[in-house]
Amino acid sequence: MSIKGRDIITIDSLSKADIEQVLSNSAKMQSLLEKGKCDLLKGKVLATLFFEPSTRTRLSFESAMHRLGGSVIGFSEASNTSVKKGETLADTIRTVDQYCDVIAMRHPVEGSAQLAADFSEAPIINGGDGAHTHPTQTLLDLYTIQKEKGKIEGLKIALTGDLKYSRTAHSLSYALSMFGADLVFTTPEELKMGKDFTSALKRDFGVNIEEKTKLEDVVSDVDVMYVTRIQRERFPAPEEYEKVKGVFKVDLELLKNAKKDLKIMHPLPRVDEIAPEVDATEHAIYFQQTYNGIPTRMALIAGVLGVEP
Ligand code: NCD
Repeated sequence: MSIKGRDIITIDSLSKADIEQVLSNSAKMQSLLEKGKCDLLKGKVLATLFFEPSTRTRLSFESAMHRLGGSVIGFSEASNTSVKKGETLADTIRTVDQYCDVIAMRHPVEGSAQLAADFSEAPIINGGDGAHTHPTQTLLDLYTIQKEKGKIEGLKIALTGDLKYSRTAHSLSYALSMFGADLVFTTPEELKMGKDFTSALKRDFGVNIEEKTKLEDVVSDVDVMYVTRIQRERFPAPEEYEKVKGVFKVDLELLKNAKKDLKIMHPLPRVDEIAPEVDATEHAIYFQQTYNGIPTRMALIAGVLGVEP
């Protein structure tokens, strides 16, 4: 089954075969991209509706659409739209649906992307709904791991930082379990991945999951370390954030014990969880990861519009 005409709301709505297809189309898109502009989506319009701050997700969706020869409309702040006058999300979506062929959207409320999909004829691509999921980030993360490591199955991957609120960690853990990686959730008690979610991954995929609290205890043992920002904006009270703020730091000292080919990833933005001096090491691949958002989102936008590279 192809992704043509489908909404991309959560990573678990995609089968392994769907994901493999997107990853292989992303590689084809990357080679088209590097050969120069292609016009596979000439005449098509993407709307980007961002109700929450974003740099990479929104701009890479827009860049991807431009690279495909299509055009873009949208907003990066709902306060300049009729939302300010009290318009519902359903009505905003029904309106924008008349103006475009595909919608990429980010919203602070969990479940909002699904609600949008219920009201839109055009496919909805979820660019993050609250602390819930971030499927397009996961696709570019998988693409990055595959490109850098040549495989996903059998790798030992640490997910660190804020596993409670980080939507990127939620979606990625699901997909990595599906692809047969071994996972090490490394985070203090307060930021742990939900128990039910972890149990469901073990039950559904038979995935190996270790749980640790210190980076020092995992750094020598893993192939990839996926670092996330502590999601300050999702904490119910500022004191809760203060308790865990700055609790992790990936720095050169820590990396002395790393495998030579350890790769460090981060969806970005970072605050202080990766020291800037790490950027110049062979371990750091977070800016390549950022770049990979372009071919991956080209493959996705084209895919839901039924266009293959
Ligand atoms: C992440 C997000 O918005 O969930 N960023 C991204 O999309 N690249 C990570 C974060 O905000 O910490």
